[in-house]
Amino acid sequence: MTTAATVRVTETSAPSSAFYVHAIAFEARDVLIFDLRPAGGSVAAFEPGAHIDIELPNGALRQYSLVNEPGVRDRYLICVKRDPNSRGGSRFMHEQLRVGAGVDVHAVRNNFALASETAPTLLIAGGIGVTPIIAMAEHLADRERPADVVYAAKSRHDLAFLGRLARAASRLIVHLDDEAGTVLDVAAVVSAAADGTHMYCCGPAPMLDAFLAATARRPPHCVHFERFAAAAAPVLTGGAFTVELARSGRLLSIAENESILQALRTAGITAASSCEEGICGTCEVRVLSGTPDHRDGILSAAERQANRSMMICCSRSIGERLVLDI
Ligand code: FES
Repeated sequence: MTTAATVRVTETSAPSSAFYVHAIAFEARDVLIFDLRPAGGSVAAFEPGAHIDIELPNGALRQYSLVNEPGVRDRYLICVKRDPNSRGGSRFMHEQLRVGAGVDVHAVRNNFALASETAPTLLIAGGIGVTPIIAMAEHLADRERPADVVYAAKSRHDLAFLGRLARAASRLIVHLDDEAGTVLDVAAVVSAAADGTHMYCCGPAPMLDAFLAATARRPPHCVHFERFAAAAAPVLTGGAFTVELARSGRLLSIAENESILQALRTAGITAASSCEEGICGTCEVRVLSGTPDHRDGILSAAERQANRSMMICCSRSIGERLVLDI
C-alpha cells in the first residue's frame, strides 16, 4: 500500500477497538461489503484512501480500505473480495463471519492519501483496487473537484461501486478485459493525462508495474499508487548486520536471510506486523541511525532517501549497523 510521492500518513494508531458486524451486503461477484459498528465509543477519524487493520475471530489480521461515503463516519465500511488463495482472511469473512460477530480494529492507516484536492486528478482502479479509489473519487466530488476515473475489471460481473463512481467522476471510463479482449492499456491512459495531473493507481501487480513504467517521467509528487498484494515475495537475502534497539540499548544480530522481525521474535520481543510482505505498513519503525536497504512496496523514492523509517518485515541494512526506535 504505497504512493510514489511523499504522502504517507498514519492517521490513527489506536489501540484495538471492539466492533461488530452490523450488516453484510453483496456488491459484485465474490465481493461483499461489511458494515462494522463500534461496540462502544466512536469511530476514529479517517480520510479517503485509509485502511483498517482488522483482527478476525479466527486470529487473522488483515487490511481493508475504507469505502465509506463522505460524511458517513459512524461506522467502518470495508469491501472484501474472496481470494481463491485466501489463507484465512477473505475466505473466513465470506464463509464464516456473520452479522453480530465481533471483530477487533487495531488501527486506521493511510498510505494512499490524496496529495492535492485542487490539482487535476486521475484515478485508475483495477479489480478490487477500486476500494480506495471510490472513497477518493467521492471525496473530490464532494469538494466540487471531481476526478477522471478509469476502472478496469475482468468482466461486468466484477464491477463494484459503478453507480457511485458514475456519480462522483467527472469522466468515467470502464474497461472490461473479456469484452475488450485485452487488459487496460495503462500507458495510453497515463499519456492522455495533462501535465500536472495527480495520478493514483490501485490494482493488481501487472497494472501497477505498467503504471510505474508509464509514469516514470512524470514528477514523482504527481504519482501515487497502492498495492494490495506484494509485487513479489520479499527477498531477505543479504549479509548479516546488527540492529541496536534504542529503547533498551540491546544489540540484535540479524543473520543472512533473516528479517529484523524474525530476529525480534526469536529474541522474544514483540513487534507489530501483519502482511509480512512489505505492503501494509504495520511494522514500520523509525530509523535513528544507519542506512536501510528498503525492500518494501510502500515507501516512496523520497522517503527511501530520507531514511526516516523502514519496514522491518522485509527491509535490511546497507551497512553493518542500524539503530532503530524499538
Ligand atoms: Fe506489513 Fe511489514 S508487516 S509492511
